[in-house]
Order: sequence, then C-alpha cells, then structure tokens
Amino acid sequence: MAYLAWSNDLAVGNTFIDADHQRLIDMVNRLHEVMQEGRGKEVLGKVLNNLVTYTREHFRREEDLMRRIGYADRAAHLHEHEKLLQQVDELQSKFDSGATTLSIQVLHFLRDWLINHIGKSDKALAEASRTVQA
Ligand SMILES: [Fe+2]
Repeated sequence: MAYLAWSNDLAVGNTFIDADHQRLIDMVNRLHEVMQEGRGKEVLGKVLNNLVTYTREHFRREEDLMRRIGYADRAAHLHEHEKLLQQVDELQSKFDSGATTLSIQVLHFLRDWLINHIGKSDKALAEASRTVQA
C-alpha cells in the first residue's frame, strides 16, 4: 500500500496543479519505498534531490498562475512555499554533510505539509483562478 494515497479529497480542480500534486505524491511514495528498503545514501540522495527539484518547478508554476490572475493572497502563499523550501534546504545540507539516513519524521512532515497546503492554500488558489477565468 502506498504511503500517501491520492484521493479526490486532494483534488483542487485545476488540471496542471492536480497533475503536479499527483506526481509529487508519487515521489514522496518513492522516497518512502527506498527508505523502507534500506537503500544506500546515494539512492536516497538522488530520490530526495528529484523530489526537491520537482517541488521547486511546481511552486514556480503555481507562482506564475498567481501572477497571471493577480492573486490577492499571493504573498502569503509564496511565504508558505519559501518556508518549506528553506526547511528542505536545511534537510538537504544535513544529508549532504554526513547523514546517511532520513528519519521517518521527515517523511511525515512532508506528507502533512503537502496535505495541509493542498487542502487550504492550493484549493483557494484553484478557486480564485476559476473565478478569474470564468
Ligand atoms: Fe502551493
């Protein structure tokens, strides 16, 4: 069973955002998988790196949308993205400078962040973009 399952509760109703989120969830599940398998630092590092790179790309796409629609809550939403990226940067440098494993708490944190952020901030963004484009 997947660590984090996609469900309709997570759908925000915007095609590209939902597709990106499904891909992010796949990548969190992949990270969980390699952790469970006790894979080495090299594999773990690569999977973590892919997840971080994709997260940055995804945030950029959302941020472009916010700019295009003149989204009123843009600053707060950007702040959430920046804060997450800061935490992830810290995690990556810890990992690069010696840690050989990732704790399950890190994974829980990523999962909870994703669920909360999608459920509140991304749903609000998708809703606003529908209103503007309607
Ligand atoms: Fe977002």
